[in-house]
Amino acid sequence: MRKKMVSQTSRRDFLRSVGVSGGAGVLYSAIGALGLAPAPQAHASEFRSPRQGDFTSVGLRNGRKVIILGAGIAGLAAAYELRKAGYDCRILEAKNRPGGRNWTVRGGTTETDLDGRTQTANFAPGHYMNAGPARIPQSHVTLEYCRELGVPLEAFANQNANAYIYHENSAALAGKPVRWRTAKADAYGYVSELLAKATDQGALDQALTATDKERLLEFLKDFGDIKGRDDNWAYTGSSRRGYSVEPGAAFEAGTVLAPPPSLSDVIASGLGLRFSFEFDYQQAMMMFQPVGGMDAIPRALGEAIGSGRIEYGARATAVTNRPDGASVTWVNAQGRSVTEYAHFVIAAIPPMVMARVQHNLGSNVTAALLSPQPWEAGKIGLDYRSRWWETDERIYGGVTPTDNDLCSIWYPSYGYHGNRGVVIGYYNALEPAAAYGRLSHADRESRAVSQGVKIHGEKYRTELASSFSVAWHRTPFIEGGWAGWSSQTGTEYQTLNRPTGNVYFAGDWLSNTIAWQHGAFTSARKVVTEIHTRVLAR
Ligand code: ALA
Repeated sequence: MRKKMVSQTSRRDFLRSVGVSGGAGVLYSAIGALGLAPAPQAHASEFRSPRQGDFTSVGLRNGRKVIILGAGIAGLAAAYELRKAGYDCRILEAKNRPGGRNWTVRGGTTETDLDGRTQTANFAPGHYMNAGPARIPQSHVTLEYCRELGVPLEAFANQNANAYIYHENSAALAGKPVRWRTAKADAYGYVSELLAKATDQGALDQALTATDKERLLEFLKDFGDIKGRDDNWAYTGSSRRGYSVEPGAAFEAGTVLAPPPSLSDVIASGLGLRFSFEFDYQQAMMMFQPVGGMDAIPRALGEAIGSGRIEYGARATAVTNRPDGASVTWVNAQGRSVTEYAHFVIAAIPPMVMARVQHNLGSNVTAALLSPQPWEAGKIGLDYRSRWWETDERIYGGVTPTDNDLCSIWYPSYGYHGNRGVVIGYYNALEPAAAYGRLSHADRESRAVSQGVKIHGEKYRTELASSFSVAWHRTPFIEGGWAGWSSQTGTEYQTLNRPTGNVYFAGDWLSNTIAWQHGAFTSARKVVTEIHTRVLAR
């Protein structure tokens, strides 16, 4: 229940920006909103990594000890940065791998969910799905870490003119997959026609000079590919829509897809509501992914930190702030309870999970940890025997948004022209993700496939070899796709963005880019700076 969330608009914007809005029905039925503040520009230069030399200049030894809960991106980044100055860091991770939600599923990957259901991926060698983060914008500090750690990148196709938009609940064009380029040509064309007519008929004379009007008409003619004044600025379709017969040799000029649907149908289809994704600050191309899987990032961080400093299978049970430091008690992989002392503790685990760890930080801290609400989020990787989306449909990477419970289908941005590939069959959040999460793995697959067949035809079923699905809200020690606040200016948010004694909190949930690795990195950097500054001031 997202009882505390207030603004429908920001919630809708967030869903749209992540490409998991499932159309009007799904969008408006849920309660609440995510109170996201505007996305910040990355001010990477403002962060300075701690250095060993910082200690000598103030006459200190560098032996400060820090225990970090969680080997997700925030925990790893904190240890990685603190290690640059020689801090003695130890990370306790409940799972048996680093990365948290940064998780790449490959053949052999096994996971048991909170409902006790185990699945093992059968993907072919070299094939994978990024179950969590899968795309990195150019502005994010995540790319700086990739550069520093030598993680090779490749383009991630977040927009593809040849992918589809599929609306089955719209007032027009329902149940017809429409190529992104076709839908865009029609929406831009008709909007340009209307605005050009209004401009030319004098409806905007209050706002525009005669010169402005001519320049605007010139722009609209180009923007919408519409006819000129003599034809009353009509949009009648254009090659931007695509071809039913491709241009070829000699006298084959190609046959443009025609005719466009009526203006009324184009508006009623709602397809035009999808294009804002292209210029969303976080989602605009170019975007990137590490070659071979997103988990190259946690792997590289883990190697830089040193495997001996990360303890897996370690479940924190208590955090105690003390006058001279803090202690952590955890149950280790052998089931034994262990307690250790440190100068500082950084809790970099999901807030609702941390809320269950026994602590002496005060009831206001518990209340604050329970304030951000976890979101259901899910993905399924569909492992295909052929790359029919490339051979049959000329789709090389990209995303098809839908208004049904799939929310989106993603085509792989790697392995082009190979023999097989993993398609993301759904990436959804909130109600659709909750609905899929309740199903068995086999039922998730058959539901996703029967929806996908409506877009791609029977091969969507017949070419399928295997699948692997994740419901983040049912994943041990993670328990949500992400967690959203009703307010990022309120007391709870402020409480957790400050240390309580010697205990700090870090994670994307304490940033203005929730559900992005950038948020985890920047939150870790903030805490590292605070701890280092405090140590140097002693
Ligand atoms: N950052 C996540 C996405 O791009 C939520 O979908």
